[in-house]
Amino acid sequence: MSSVPEIFSPDGPFARAIGGYRVRQQQVDMAERIAAAIHGNSVFIAEAGTGTGKTFAYLVPALKSNGKVIVSTGTKTLQDQLFNKDLPMVRDILKAPVKIALLKGRANYVCPYHLNRALADGRFLSKEDAADARRISVFAKTTQTGDKAECFEVNENSPVWNSATSTRDNCLGQDCPDYKECFVMAARKEAMAADLVVVNHHLFFADVMLRDEGMAELLPACNTVIFDEAHQLPEVATLFFGDSVSTAQVVDLARDAKAEGLTSARDCLDIQSGAKAMEKAARDLRLSVGVDAGRFSYEQLQERPEFAPALKLLDEEVAKFAAILETQAQRAEGIEKCWQRALELQQHLAQWQNLADLGYVRCS
Ligand SMILES: Nc1ncnc2c1ncn2[C@@H]1O[C@H](COP(=O)(O)OP(=O)(O)OP(=O)(O)O)[C@@H](O)[C@H]1O
Ligand code: SF4
Ligand SMILES: [Mg+2]
Repeated sequence: MSSVPEIFSPDGPFARAIGGYRVRQQQVDMAERIAAAIHGNSVFIAEAGTGTGKTFAYLVPALKSNGKVIVSTGTKTLQDQLFNKDLPMVRDILKAPVKIALLKGRANYVCPYHLNRALADGRFLSKEDAADARRISVFAKTTQTGDKAECFEVNENSPVWNSATSTRDNCLGQDCPDYKECFVMAARKEAMAADLVVVNHHLFFADVMLRDEGMAELLPACNTVIFDEAHQLPEVATLFFGDSVSTAQVVDLARDAKAEGLTSARDCLDIQSGAKAMEKAARDLRLSVGVDAGRFSYEQLQERPEFAPALKLLDEEVAKFAAILETQAQRAEGIEKCWQRALELQQHLAQWQNLADLGYVRCS
């Protein structure tokens, strides 16, 4: 096959196939660097302005590589667009004999087993839901993929999709009587057999985290992973690997502990006063962040003079409250549980501040 510069040259296959095609040096450079990274099994990060033509720049080396490639896009819409438009087009232009597949999370595919069960039960909340279920059933008989994005007759937010799709917990797997007609399994099989698989960042990270969704088998078999819209990765990765601690948890603990105290340790007035002080400290911390909704870095918050003292006070109040609950913990299981929650909160807050000092924290 031709080299990357030849493919993008003024008399190359792109120029012949695309009206208005112009050689863009940035695009050629990017494609060459990606090809080199694939060849050398190394990491390469590219940033280029919108409209540069990054899609062709990564598709050309991806389709030219001999190994298995995963391309991950930012959203399911971009995933569909890439799979249905740019990818087949570039594959045709390069005349590359490459098998391609699209893989989404299992919630995107009709599950014949649960759909049939829901239809047999017939217990739908409304006539509209029942009609939607019948529409999905018609769709399931004609679709190749079972991908709900192709079922235009039913709104993607219809509650019936919950009964017409599977979850990791309720899927019967190989014991399923409908295994042969299963769209999830078919999509995974296709992905395993393909040379280039298009996924999305959510699926990628959910799978790394949960070891499900078919990617667990896919990833080890794969030589190259390309993340398009990679600037979204920190956000998506935080969703799956992140940890959070909130003032709402403190307020909840104060409420529950006050109630437990009134039931099982009425004579211990410290529980009531300690809970109140801790709750106030949580609310003051929330106020110190300001009323505007938004996300801030820890450094931005440190610039607000009220923030650090409010956080310190909350630390102290949670610690004091944990000590109060410890003295009463033996009196009732409910108090014991609140004590454990207070200890966890204390630990979480400390951990959060350690990570914040290392620059890993966002606040909202
Ligand atoms: N060399 C080229 N000559 C002419 N048109 C091109 C060339 N390369 C790409 N295009 C076209 O330019 C448009 C933008 O390309 P693409 O979507 O890959 O941009 P991008 O760099 O990914 O931008 P964004 O950051 O917005 O995603 C597409 O319509 C594509 O077909
Ligand atoms: S194997 Fe799981 S997803 Fe597939 S049809 Fe059976 S229950 Fe549904
Ligand atoms: Mg793009």
